[in-house]
Amino acid sequence: MNIQQNQLQDPPHNSSHYGKIEYWEKRYQTNTKPFDWYQNYDGVKDIITQYINKSTRILNVGCGSSLLSEEMYFEGYKNITNVDYSNNLIKHLIERYSEGFENTFKFEHCDVRNMKGKFANNSFDCVIDKGTLDSVLCGEYSRQNSFKMLSEISRVLSQDGVYIVVTYGEEKKRQQLLENPEFMWHVKKVYKIYKPNVQSISENLFDYKDPDNYHYIYICKKGDQVLTPRGKLGNLFKNN
Ligand SMILES: C[S@@+](CC[C@H](N)C(=O)[O-])C[C@H]1O[C@@H](n2cnc3c(N)ncnc32)[C@H](O)[C@@H]1O
Repeated sequence: MNIQQNQLQDPPHNSSHYGKIEYWEKRYQTNTKPFDWYQNYDGVKDIITQYINKSTRILNVGCGSSLLSEEMYFEGYKNITNVDYSNNLIKHLIERYSEGFENTFKFEHCDVRNMKGKFANNSFDCVIDKGTLDSVLCGEYSRQNSFKMLSEISRVLSQDGVYIVVTYGEEKKRQQLLENPEFMWHVKKVYKIYKPNVQSISENLFDYKDPDNYHYIYICKKGDQVLTPRGKLGNLFKNN
C-alpha cells in the first residue's frame, strides 16, 4: 500500500502539540487511515528483524495507525501487542482487526509512562518504538516523561530483551538519554537510514553530513551488561 509518510519536527519548532494527548485524540477522531510516520515497514525491516524471531513477544508502543505491526504479522510475527494512549484510535483498531487475526495480535489502550496495571515485569522480548519517544520529548516535562516511559519499557522487557527506537534524533540528542544504567540496557548499535523524502534530492545537492537527512534506529539491548563483583551493573559491555 502506498501511504504518506511524515516527520516530526525537532522541538522547539512549534511541535509541542505532538506531546499532548488532546492533539492525538482529535487527530484520530477524524482520521484513522493507515499512516506511517518516518518510515514504513520496508524501510526498517532489514534492521528490526535481525533482533527478533517469529516467537518473539513484541510490544509496539504508540502504535498509531501505522501498518508496521500488520505487515509484521503477515510475515509471521504473530505475537504483537500494540498500545497507544488515544482511546479513539484503539477503539478503531480493535474493530479494524477484529477478524482474521490470532488473539496474540492485540490492541490495548495504555499510556506508556505507566503500564503497571496492564503488563507485568518481563512480559515482552522486544519493544518497538517508531516516533513515540520523539512525541513524548516534544511535550512539557519531557525529561521526566521520557524517563517514566523508558523506565516502564525497561520494566516490561525481559532480562535479555531489546528496545528498538526509530527516531529523528541523532546520537548527540538521544544517546545520553537512552544510555542510562537505570534502564539496564546498553545502546548496542545505532543505524542511520535515509529519510524517504531525500531520495528525490539530486546527488550534487544532497548533503551527506546533514543529520537531518537521516532517521536513526537505536538498538538498546538488555542482558549484555557485565556484573561487577558487588553485583551492581558495571560499565563494561560485551562487544557488539
Ligand atoms: C508520531 S506517532 C507514531 C505512530 C506510529 N508508531 C508510526 O510509526 O506511525 C506517535 C504515537 O504515539 C502515541 N503516544 C504519544 N505519547 C504516548 C504515550 N505517553 N502513551 C501511549 N501512546 C503515546 C500517539 O498517540 C501517536 O499515535
